[in-house]
Amino acid sequence: MNDKKNILITGGAGFIGSHVVRLFVEKYPQYRILNLDSLTYAGNLENLREIENHPNHKFIKGDILDIELLNSIFKEYPVQGVIHLAAESHVDRSIHNPDEFAMTNIIGTIRLLKAAHSAWHGQMNGKMFYHISTDEVYGSIADGYFTEQTPIDPRSPYSASKASSDHFVQAFGNSYGLPTIISRCSNNYGPYQFPEKLIPLMINNMVNSKPLPVYGKGENIRDWLYVEDHAKAIDAIFHKGKSGEVYNIGGNNEWKNIDLVKLLCSIIDKKLERADGTSAKLITYVKDRPGHDMRYAIDASKVISEIGWRPETDFPEGLEKTVAWYLSNQQWLQHVTSGEYLKYYDKMYVNR
Ligand code: NAD
Ligand code: DAU
Repeated sequence: MNDKKNILITGGAGFIGSHVVRLFVEKYPQYRILNLDSLTYAGNLENLREIENHPNHKFIKGDILDIELLNSIFKEYPVQGVIHLAAESHVDRSIHNPDEFAMTNIIGTIRLLKAAHSAWHGQMNGKMFYHISTDEVYGSIADGYFTEQTPIDPRSPYSASKASSDHFVQAFGNSYGLPTIISRCSNNYGPYQFPEKLIPLMINNMVNSKPLPVYGKGENIRDWLYVEDHAKAIDAIFHKGKSGEVYNIGGNNEWKNIDLVKLLCSIIDKKLERADGTSAKLITYVKDRPGHDMRYAIDASKVISEIGWRPETDFPEGLEKTVAWYLSNQQWLQHVTSGEYLKYYDKMYVNR
C-alpha cells in the first residue's frame, strides 16, 4: 500500500473535481487518488464512470465536516498532498441558504486544514495543501483585470464563504507553517456541469423548448474557461507551484451573458436542424440576481509565465464539444435532475 503516493482530492464527484480526478488517475500511475465526496445533489458517481474500477482510484463517500473521518483517512494513508475542491458552488443557492455555504466552505475547509496539520505536524517537507478558489473573491471589476494583488472584496454569500476559506488557508500557512497554495479561476464550462449553471441550464432548456431565463439585461460579463484546461492548470500548479503563493487562472475569454446565450442558440439550432432563430425565440429576460456582479476578468499572466500553463481550448471548439456532450448524454441530465443517480450510487457502491 505504501508504494504509491496518496493524494486526497475532495469534491472529486462534482463537475471540476471529476475532471481533475480523471486526469490524475490516468496520468499518474504512481499515485493513489483518494477521492472524498459526500455526494450532495451536485456530486455524482456517474461522472467517474470511466475510472470507477481503476486501481489508482479510491472513492470515499464522506463529508469534509466529519473530522473523525478526515483524521482516519490521514492515519490510514500517508497523504502527501490535498487538492481541495469540495464546496457548495452555486451563487443563487447561496443567496437562499448562506448557512450551508458557511458550513461546507468555511468550517469544512478549516476541518480539512486541521486534519492535514495534525497529520503533517513536524514533517511538512514534501506536503502540499492546495485550495481551489474562485475569481469571485475579488468582487466585480468595471475595467482592467483581477491580479493576485487585487484586494479581496466578496459580494455574494458564496464568494464571502470562499474568501473566508482562502483566508483560513493562508492563516494555516502563516500560523502553523502548513505548505499551502491557492488558485482562483474564472467561470468553467464543459461536460458534467450541473444544469443549474448558465451554459448547461441553457442547453437543457433549449433542447426541451423551455424559456431561457436571462437575468436582468444579460449584460453581465464572465470569462469562460474549458474545464479540462482548468484541470490541467490544477495539475501544473500542484506540481510546480510555490508554497504560500496564489495563482489566478482564466481563459482570457470575456462574454456578455446575452451574447453567449445567442451563440448557444445558433449552435443548438444547427445541431438539432431547427430553423435559424428558433431557440433564440425562447430567450426570456427575468428578474436580476440580487447583488449580481457585473464583470469578472482575470489576469492569468503569473500562471502563464511562472508555471507554463495556458488555456488550450478555443471557445467555439469548447462550446461545440460541450453542446455535443449534453446532446448525447440526455440520460445523465435526466438522472441528475431527478435524483436517479442516488440509486446508481446504491447499486454500484453499497449493495455490491
Ligand atoms: P460542484 O458543485 O459541481 O461540485 C462540488 C462537489 O463537492 C460535489 O461533488 C459535492 O458532492 C461535493 N461536496 C459538497 N459539499 C461537500 C462536503 N461537505 N463534503 C464532501 N464533499 C462535498 O462544484 P464545481 O463547479 O465542480 O466547483 C469545484 C470547486 O471549484 C469549488 O470549490 C468551487 O468554488 C471552485 N470553482 C468553481 C468554478 C466554476 O466555474 N464551477 C470556478 C472557479 C472555482
Ligand atoms: O467565476 C467563477 C464562478 O463561476 C464559480 O466560482 C462558481 O462556482 C460558478 O457557479 C460560477 O458563478 P456564476 O454566478 O458566474 O455562474 P452562473 O453559471 O450561475 O451564472 C453565470 C452568469 O449567467 C451570471 O452572470 C448569472 C447569469 N445567469 C445564470 C443563470 C443560472 C443567467 O442570466 N441566467 C441563469 O439562469
